[in-house]
Amino acid sequence: MPKPKYEWSAEHEAIRAANHFEIEGSEEMARVFAQMVSVRANSNVLLRGETGVGKTATARLIYALAKARNILAPASQENGNGNGNGNGVTEGQHMHPSWSTFRDQTNRDNAKFVEVNMAAIPEHLVESELFGHERGSFTGSTERRYGRFEEANGGVLYLDEIGEMPVVAQPKLLTALDDPRRYQRLGSNKTNESQFVAVSSTTQNLEEMVAQKQFHKALLARIREREIRVPALNERPPVHREHLVNTLVQRFCERHKIDAFSVDAKALDFLITRKYEDNVRELNFIMKEICQSLVESKRKKITMNDVDHAIAILGIGNREALQREVAEKSPRILTLDEMIRNAIVDSIIRNHFDVPRVLKELGLHRATFYRKLQALEIDMEALKNRRK
Ligand SMILES: Nc1ncnc2c1ncn2[C@@H]1O[C@H](COP(=O)(O)OP(=O)(O)OP(=O)(O)O)[C@@H](O)[C@H]1O
Ligand SMILES: [Mg+2]
Repeated sequence: MPKPKYEWSAEHEAIRAANHFEIEGSEEMARVFAQMVSVRANSNVLLRGETGVGKTATARLIYALAKARNILAPASQENGNGNGNGNGVTEGQHMHPSWSTFRDQTNRDNAKFVEVNMAAIPEHLVESELFGHERGSFTGSTERRYGRFEEANGGVLYLDEIGEMPVVAQPKLLTALDDPRRYQRLGSNKTNESQFVAVSSTTQNLEEMVAQKQFHKALLARIREREIRVPALNERPPVHREHLVNTLVQRFCERHKIDAFSVDAKALDFLITRKYEDNVRELNFIMKEICQSLVESKRKKITMNDVDHAIAILGIGNREALQREVAEKSPRILTLDEMIRNAIVDSIIRNHFDVPRVLKELGLHRATFYRKLQALEIDMEALKNRRK
């Protein structure tokens, strides 16, 4: 089968470049960008990928592109009584001649990127945060509050760490994320309507969470109308990583209004072959530290010395050295990963697969726990079956 060829317009390319979002040299990143460019009005997109791969950066770029593509238009709040679909545009309508340039421009200016971290909202406040509340609707609600759904009307709603959303609150979101998007403020029986692109993101294995009854199957189906998987840095070809290094240097230099630094061959080779646990974020931290030190010492070329120094200063080296030491000293000694894996498996079995108890015993955050399961290839179902 021939490989798909991804295409986008010069305008989209300019937006990508202005946002310093690197895709060059990676087929998978080209696919990611093609997916971003073709997001539909009022649709639900799920971003998946390890921590630091660029999910938030992707969501922001989806927003910038959606604005330029003119697919964002608000639903009319006055008409939002649950009977009509307001007067916003839906897919296919956005080129209609009755839409004046003035209207398009106003929509574009008002389009917001609204970010909600689902891990940060306590269970009892989820509804009020998303849908708003009327004055006096619950103890302490002395003012009317507009929810994020209202704020995002005509823009993009970014639901970060969706897997952390409390299970009991999930059905409310499921209903509200339908098309048209309808919801009620707490304490009101008036149905409001919003139009926005909903971008959710997760580092977690949501399918596993569905199996563990920690995430609603129907909500997963709804939020992933379109799924964009952002690959881990280590999965991307070296040539892409080289472009990324240069882009990050350029970004720093542009922001500081200085000429871009060059990177010598040895330093570049090290940077593009190194393993990055926290993906692009970690590479970016290193590049920022290096660039800062070049500014301070008034130099123009990045060398291996600068890289070593940055890694030591950031404290990333300790972790690596420790792992190397353990692995090198004796092949019979367990690696850190193996030790962690054993501790988790022991705890799961000891606690009879009761996840909340395991979390308590290990002092782990739910998200971290599921990330570890994935990373260390611990399959709870397989463990269960083996013990039957
Ligand atoms: N393709 C890319 N080109 C340039 N910079 C990138 C790219 N991807 C990510 N970055 C940069 O890497 C850093 C981390 O990205 P981001 O915060 O989007 O990751 P994330 O996947 O949202 O992480 P988390 O799961 O922790 O929320 C940011 O500074 C971002 O600008
Ligand atoms: Mg993020």
